[in-house]
Amino acid sequence: MDIAPRRIKKVQQFRRQRATKGGRFDGKNDSNDKTLVVGGICTLIGAIVIVGVGIGLAHLFFYIFQPSCVTNHHHNYNNELTAAAFAEVSPTTTTAGTNDASSSSNKNKPGDAIQNTIEIPASSELKETIIKVKKPISQFPDSAKFPAQCTTEQLDILKQQLPAKGCEEFQKKAWMIHGCSFASKTLCGNANPHWFYDFIQNDSNSHDETFRAIIVGCNKGYEAIELLRIASPHSSDTNEYNWTAWQSEFRNLDGSSDKIDESVTCPIPGTASSNTKSFKKSQVFCIEGYPKTFDQLVKTKKTFGYGDELDLTNMIASANDHSQPYPVFTEDPIGATGVGVSHWAKSCRRHAEQCTDVDSNSIDNWIQTKPSLTADNNKAPIHFMSITAEGSDYDILRGTSLNLARIQYLDFGYHWNWQWGSKSLHDLIFRLKKKGFVCYWTGSDGKQLWRITDCWQDHYELKFSASIGCVNSNIPAAEPLLNRMERMFFDTLKIN
Ligand SMILES: *[C@@H]1O[C@H](CO)[C@@H](O)[C@H](O)[C@H]1NC(C)=O
Ligand SMILES: *[C@@H]1O[C@H](CO)[C@@H](O)[C@H](O)[C@H]1NC(C)=O
Repeated sequence: MDIAPRRIKKVQQFRRQRATKGGRFDGKNDSNDKTLVVGGICTLIGAIVIVGVGIGLAHLFFYIFQPSCVTNHHHNYNNELTAAAFAEVSPTTTTAGTNDASSSSNKNKPGDAIQNTIEIPASSELKETIIKVKKPISQFPDSAKFPAQCTTEQLDILKQQLPAKGCEEFQKKAWMIHGCSFASKTLCGNANPHWFYDFIQNDSNSHDETFRAIIVGCNKGYEAIELLRIASPHSSDTNEYNWTAWQSEFRNLDGSSDKIDESVTCPIPGTASSNTKSFKKSQVFCIEGYPKTFDQLVKTKKTFGYGDELDLTNMIASANDHSQPYPVFTEDPIGATGVGVSHWAKSCRRHAEQCTDVDSNSIDNWIQTKPSLTADNNKAPIHFMSITAEGSDYDILRGTSLNLARIQYLDFGYHWNWQWGSKSLHDLIFRLKKKGFVCYWTGSDGKQLWRITDCWQDHYELKFSASIGCVNSNIPAAEPLLNRMERMFFDTLKIN
């Protein structure tokens, strides 16, 4: 009775171990796994020993002889390795106590090459050849418009506005959200991203025909309907997407004995204006893991007669692409908030008979099943992606790594539960920066943003529930959004 969940736990542990090594965030190393397994343990150990001895001998050789041409070449070679292996080496190990992983590069300019270990010979001719031959390897996209690193003055204000004290004091009681500055101020920060709404309403300069959004953790669908209202093109029926009307329909159970969770954790103010001029069509893809909630979403959608502008999927978004069913506890009310893989794993260990299997898959794989998202050779812009996953946000982002570069705005939650246990926010912010993202704590009041990228404070590593929103500075069409968010950050620093 208890075997299946335990096996799942093992798999999760294994996944977590892999997650801490961080190998797959770039989505490049997948094929290695299979080859290793096929080769068998003995071959593996043999290979490691041989390669190890080889490297050792090479080092010994360089150590003893050190001819300058070999040394130079050796350095270059090292350089390449460093860049290629970046996905594997967690930056946290190298920058403890300093600003940000990203700040190590920021002493140069963002996007600069990590070239400083190359010894450039005195002769300028030689220098030229070397530079021609060696294309500089950037850890961050060269074309990204990263804002400058926070100044000491800005960091001093951040220290006052988001102090470490309560977060340190309550780190063992992370559910006491009001103890920690960044948690208490951002709890509902992603419920009303009006900087994004203003962007698509007012200054989206894109020529995209279709607005595309992905919501992972659709729950009752309120955010999806609100987004459709705001991002849809003008139509005669301005009340077509009305989340309060949707809400009353969603709560309608037709006399069934099911229970419904009517709570609205973060209210939707509904103040953003309707319809954009920019798009001819809008599409919101909504992924929901809990089958009962999903069924209710389907039923409500039918009542309103919506078409493919609201696309619903019952799936658990995960980090890996070896999709396997996941046990989901089915005794929670429809639309329950606070349920997710941690909750289900725990409940299904105790009550396996009340659990049902739901498919899981990475967002990268799932996208391949949606023609609208694979359009234009997988380059069609994705304007918005929001993740509400009760803790598995990091894993979901890892499973999206192949598509992050075309997502213009991204928000997700930080959490204290075990899903985040071995993960590092510092590390995640660094990896997102490699895809072009600049991230901020998003204030619940909808007015305040505190930049995290290149403005790191060490206590952000303490795990609390909080909201983070990121804009992709490597996508020209999203530049007005970046400017908007930076302006808000500067305005926030002025508040006293
Ligand atoms: C967006 O544009 C509308 C008019 O189209 C204007 O009323 C509103 O103030 C603008 N909002 C922002 C934040 O620029
Ligand atoms: C949305 O629907 C609610 C409930 O049906 C209604 O009271 C409200 O007036 C509608 N809002 C708009 C903007 O039409």
